[in-house]
Amino acid sequence: MTSKCSAMNGECKAVGLEVLSMIDRDKLMKRESEAIIQTYTRQKVVLVRGSGAKVWDSDGKEYLDFVAGIAVNNVGHCHHAVVEAIKRQAETLIHTSNLYYTENQVLLAEELKKLTGMKRAYFCNSGAESVEAALKLTRRATGKSKIVAAVGSFHGRTLGALGTTYKAIYREPFRPLNEAEFVPYNDPEALKAVVTKETGAVILEPVQGEAGVYVPDANYLRAARQVCDDAGALLIFDEVQTGFGRTGRWFAKEHSGVQPDILTLAKALAGGLPMGTMLASESVSEAFQRGDHGSTFAGGALVSAAALASIDAIKSENMVQRSEELGAYMRSELERLGPREVRGLGLMIGLDLDADCKQVVQKALEKGVILNNTGDHTLRFIPPLVVTKEQIDRVVKVLGEVLEEF
Ligand SMILES: Cc1ncc(COP(=O)(O)O)c(C=O)c1O
Repeated sequence: MTSKCSAMNGECKAVGLEVLSMIDRDKLMKRESEAIIQTYTRQKVVLVRGSGAKVWDSDGKEYLDFVAGIAVNNVGHCHHAVVEAIKRQAETLIHTSNLYYTENQVLLAEELKKLTGMKRAYFCNSGAESVEAALKLTRRATGKSKIVAAVGSFHGRTLGALGTTYKAIYREPFRPLNEAEFVPYNDPEALKAVVTKETGAVILEPVQGEAGVYVPDANYLRAARQVCDDAGALLIFDEVQTGFGRTGRWFAKEHSGVQPDILTLAKALAGGLPMGTMLASESVSEAFQRGDHGSTFAGGALVSAAALASIDAIKSENMVQRSEELGAYMRSELERLGPREVRGLGLMIGLDLDADCKQVVQKALEKGVILNNTGDHTLRFIPPLVVTKEQIDRVVKVLGEVLEEF
């Protein structure tokens, strides 16, 4: 298949769709159930192509994607600059391991230092891995294992990260874990009450994502900083979901001006390729010794090239500002639907409805709009930051039609 790219919104006009429409959805679903361990509940759609804020299924049906690979495709699907960087790097050097130096990894770490104000980066391959690294670094830097996390938090599903993820149904089957003490989110007094000299770290999402998009008061994160400083505990911000312009700032921590000791990033970092990173302050990062942690693939030349191109695209297309402006616009348009509540920052929006949101998601999908519900009565919107006003209008219109039908 060949593709032609226009500069507008990283969108590509593809030629040769007929090749892709030969996939038989029902047969593929059956083969999937026989070949793949069943840990996911999937929509009955086979996606074959993406461009900007749009994706297409195996029947050639077009969708507006307001989930964006779960906050991964911030620069849109198949952004031409990311595609070009991947192509170029793939022809030069894909993987070498961390036994050697590669320039892209260093360039990316330097770029991330500038963007975040943190001092050193450790690369990994996913959000959960970045949290694992943060927990190990906490242990090394403080000698303490007690972690405090928030009610509603989601920090990943590997054994360490799982201990800090709130939902008991995720944790219970896998005990024993090193489980965090969970305190209500956006409640400084609750933090004060449990953080002691024994606490290694407090881990918080500056805006909670999986919980349904909860924005705390700016004072909350400042109070968390103070509580940690008073107790000699580290403050970890998990910006796996909120990073790279999602909330109308490069990182959600900027809304409060609070700098954590450790920052975890992944999802949108490499424009759609799997990559994570944990950044730390100077003194905390020095606690890791050679051999303390590592990963074969981490910070490879290919993913690093994609990340550099993605960051460049966010800058050159003013996507952080777009996120702030279009997010405010979308929230005001959603208000017109008369929901219980609209919450959010930038293009990270939660919407509480009386309707059954699982059904809303199904009906919207039939009408060519991909949505996501984080609870029975909550929708979460995390579209690509290249989304247009017209695309937002279309999604709000479709949602309005769906709600009329209930
Ligand atoms: C805030 C946060 N942390 C960690 C994770 C885990 O990331 P991953 O699925 O890449 O392991 C997620 C995933 O949704 C997340 O939203």
